[in-house]
Amino acid sequence: MKNIIEIKKVLKQFKVLKRKTGLKSSFTNFFSRDYKIIKAVNNVSLTIKEGEFVGVIGPNGAGKSTLIKILTGVLTPSSGTVKVLNYIPYKQRKEYTKNIGVVFGQRTQLWWDLPVKDTFELFKYIYKIPEEKFKNNLNRFVDVLDIDKYLDTPTRKLSLGERMRCDLVASLLHEPKIVFLDEPTIGLDVEAKFRIREFLKEVNANGTTIILTTHDMSDIEELCPRIVIIDKGKKIYDGLVDNVKKKFRKQRILVIDFFEEIDESKLKWKGIKTIKKEGDRVTLIIDTTKTTASDVIKKILSKWPIYDITVEEPEIEEVIRKIYKKGFNVS
Ligand SMILES: Nc1ncnc2c1ncn2[C@@H]1O[C@H](COP(=O)(O)OP(=O)(O)OP(=O)(O)O)[C@@H](O)[C@H]1O
Ligand SMILES: [Mg+2]
Repeated sequence: MKNIIEIKKVLKQFKVLKRKTGLKSSFTNFFSRDYKIIKAVNNVSLTIKEGEFVGVIGPNGAGKSTLIKILTGVLTPSSGTVKVLNYIPYKQRKEYTKNIGVVFGQRTQLWWDLPVKDTFELFKYIYKIPEEKFKNNLNRFVDVLDIDKYLDTPTRKLSLGERMRCDLVASLLHEPKIVFLDEPTIGLDVEAKFRIREFLKEVNANGTTIILTTHDMSDIEELCPRIVIIDKGKKIYDGLVDNVKKKFRKQRILVIDFFEEIDESKLKWKGIKTIKKEGDRVTLIIDTTKTTASDVIKKILSKWPIYDITVEEPEIEEVIRKIYKKGFNVS
């Protein structure tokens, strides 16, 4: 598959006022121009191939939204090169935006006072979507996202989850090649998240490239094989979610249901960190730098009859929290 997004050494600086507190100092600030420069996106290079579903994650203020704004042509980078679908987004914004879809979860693109379906009609006009294509897409999207009942409601009367689903539809009616979604699941309930995820899976399976930012690690686990982690404007990881997990996978949790209660002191083997017994169920935490889950299982099976056994990996949330706190290079 060919590269659909190519950015090289992208830098975005903002000039911000140095904060001083108090009314008097806010005047001084105004006149003294006591500015500092922050690098919201700092030397980021990235390539994305057609058809990928990439998750962009990172702590608050990391630079994710700024990066999305650069990719969608809303912001001009301070330096570096940006090429998406052979366009330079910030230079050829008008032509370019016909080929992409954008949803900023924090802000709607629907007309506030218009019934939702009228906004859709406007998009049909703006993007010159042929009637047939428009109808087909709208019917399909309305169905999958279950928004039939809101079509006549003005946007301002919709709940967050209802509005977000309508925003997604609006961003996809013209069948863009790439969709940029900046926190599309923020503040949504379980059902709305589920619907949106199923919808996005379908859209991606039909060939649309999707770039998604989120703070919800279940979005990532469900949708994005590849993640880019941004921290303080810098790209600190770019690769498979699975590899992130593997790198930090130093412990495993084994839950074993024995046929009958056993003497747990007989489990004190190398690499077994803790043993917890509740009746005939034993939970072991093992250190995988010293042993492996499969070795432990083999040994157990050779000694006792067992009823069931499960192996759990560390939660992705925990792994990501560790990376945000200590960086990717520590383990
Ligand atoms: N227009 C602007 N002017 C000045 N500073 C800005 C501007 N936009 C963003 N910033 C700063 O740039 C940094 C990155 O912001 P950005 O919104 O890209 O972060 P984010 O990763 O999207 O965070 P969040 O997870 O909270 O959405 C922050 O320090 C923010 O304060
Ligand atoms: Mg953001």
